[in-house]
Amino acid sequence: MGRSITVTAPAKLNLALAVMGKRPDGYHDLLSVFATLDLADDVRVARHRTLEVRNTLDIGGGEDLAARAVRELASEIGREPQAFVRIRKRIPIAAGLGGGSSDAAAVLRALATLWEVEADLVAVAARVGSDVPFFVAGGPVALVSGRGEVVTALPAPREPLHLVVLRPPVRLRTAEVFGELRPGEMGHSEHVSALAGAFRDGTVTAETLREHGWNDLLAPAERRCEAIATWRATAAARGIALSLTGSGPTLFAAADDRRDALRIARILRRAGLRGHPQIAAA
Ligand code: C5P
Repeated sequence: MGRSITVTAPAKLNLALAVMGKRPDGYHDLLSVFATLDLADDVRVARHRTLEVRNTLDIGGGEDLAARAVRELASEIGREPQAFVRIRKRIPIAAGLGGGSSDAAAVLRALATLWEVEADLVAVAARVGSDVPFFVAGGPVALVSGRGEVVTALPAPREPLHLVVLRPPVRLRTAEVFGELRPGEMGHSEHVSALAGAFRDGTVTAETLREHGWNDLLAPAERRCEAIATWRATAAARGIALSLTGSGPTLFAAADDRRDALRIARILRRAGLRGHPQIAAA
């Protein structure tokens, strides 16, 4: 099989997200602050005679974004889509954590090195999926707009962000949540802009994250998925604000530091909600 390259593929959170409007192609334009999480998959890519993707988790039906990444890069440079990809999965699937998109971005980065190509990976990434350009760009924090293809890096905070991440055990399809969105629920870009500004100024704190952790997809996600509303109400009754990432169902709480994250996770666990302390934007 010869030389192989292994790349870390981190999960992401949308720390704030606004839906700016529906596009003629059926997708929506977004404005969102993305940050990577310390939770990550490992992706190994090697030369191969065919296209083969192995995954340590069953990713279910639907198109495999990692295979699509190989095909899109191959077609960009006029090569056969031949590669062996092995994904060691840790990021939960269909959670709003961008796992599949991050794996696809890792494939693009590793293949570009392996094949020694100088293609515009962000443009190729946009053809693979809406969240893939952020991961290909490689920064820990970015302001993302358009369908996801416009990525502007933001400075990482001086100290990594401590969060508690919770995943209600339900399946929620992205298209379903966008379909439920009402016109009056869109366009709350002021929170996204304020948060991006705080990253630029280096003034982001847990309080900033709580104040601007807005997501236009929260209301439609709550209507489609009762667990999201119930979990948020349970946490709120204990003084903990939970924000939604992406189209859900994953939720997160901002913490002051590691100790505070452990405290929040403990309070939530006593209320029957299992959350994991994690670090973002490191
Ligand atoms: O990007 P992905 O294929 O995961 O999106 C799934 C569905 O979510 C799309 O078919 C579309 O209905 C919706 N979507 C959207 N606008 C985006 C991203 C996703 O409308 N920016």
